Amino acid sequence: MEEEIRKAAEILAKSKHAVVFTGAGISAESGIPTFRGKDGLWKKYDPEEVASISGFKRNPRAFWEFSMELKDKLFAEPNPAHYAIAELERMGIVKAVITQNIDMLHQRAGSRRVLELHGSMDKLDCLDCHETYDWSEFAEDFKKGEIPRCRKCGSYYVKPRAVLFGEPLPQRTLFEAIEEAKRCDAFMVVGSSLVVYPAAELPYIAKKSGAKMIIVNAEPTMADPIFDVKIIGNAGEILPKIVEEVKKLRR
Ligand code: APR
Ligand code: ZN
Repeated sequence: MEEEIRKAAEILAKSKHAVVFTGAGISAESGIPTFRGKDGLWKKYDPEEVASISGFKRNPRAFWEFSMELKDKLFAEPNPAHYAIAELERMGIVKAVITQNIDMLHQRAGSRRVLELHGSMDKLDCLDCHETYDWSEFAEDFKKGEIPRCRKCGSYYVKPRAVLFGEPLPQRTLFEAIEEAKRCDAFMVVGSSLVVYPAAELPYIAKKSGAKMIIVNAEPTMADPIFDVKIIGNAGEILPKIVEEVKKLRR
C-alpha cells in the first residue's frame, strides 16, 4: 500500500494537468450510501422503478419515497477525501474534478472546477412548464407527506436536477469532461465501480490520450487493467496520505 501511495504521489507531483473522476465511493465516509458497493442502494431498490425517467413518470411517489430517504443523507459533510482533492487543486495539480455524484460535497470542500455529469440535487424543475424551484418551497409538502406539485401548471412532474436513468447527460458538461480526459497527463479515479456509461468511458479516453492512470477504490473494478497504480482501500484514509507524499516530493 505505501509503495502504491508513493507511486501515485509521484505521478501527481510531476503532473502538469491532473484530472480526478469520482463516484459514490468518495462520499461513503460522509454517510451517503453507494449504489453497488457493500449495502448498495440497488440491493434494496430497483433503479428502474425509483431512479429512471420512465419510472418517475409512471409513479412519481415511488421516486419521492426513495429520494426523501436519500435526501436526508445527502445533506452530509465533506470528508478528508473531498478536502484532499480541493487541496490538490489549490496546489495547481488538479485542474478539474469530474463527478458522477449529485451531493455537491466537492464544492463544499472547496473544489472550484467541478463537472457534475449526473446533475445535482441543487434545484428542482417542472418537466412540463420548466418552472424552477428551491427545495425550501416544498418543505411544508414534504412534512405533510405530499409530493411536489408545480405551483404554475399543476404538474406532478417536478424533479430534482439529478440525471435519472434514461435521461441524457448535460451535454455541455459531458463535452467539457471529454476534453479534460483528452488533455490531462494524469487521471485519478476515486470511489467508482465504473459500470455506468457514458461516464465510465472517460478513463478509457484518458488512457488512450496517454495519461498516467490511478485508481483508489474499496474493491477491484472491471477497468483495473488500464490503471498504472491501483490502491484498494478507503478514499478518506488514502487521499490525505497521497497529498502528504506529494508535498514531500515538491519540497
Ligand atoms: N472509499 C473508496 N471506494 C469506496 C468506498 C470508500 N470509502 N466505499 C465504497 N467504495 C467503492 C465501492 O467498492 C464501489 O466500487 O465505491 C464504488 C461505488 O460504486 P457505485 O456504487 O457503483 O457508484 P458509482 O460508480 O458512482 O455509480 C455510478 O450509477 O446508480 C448510478 O447515477 C448513479 O452516479 C451513479 C452511477
Ligand atoms: Zn409546471
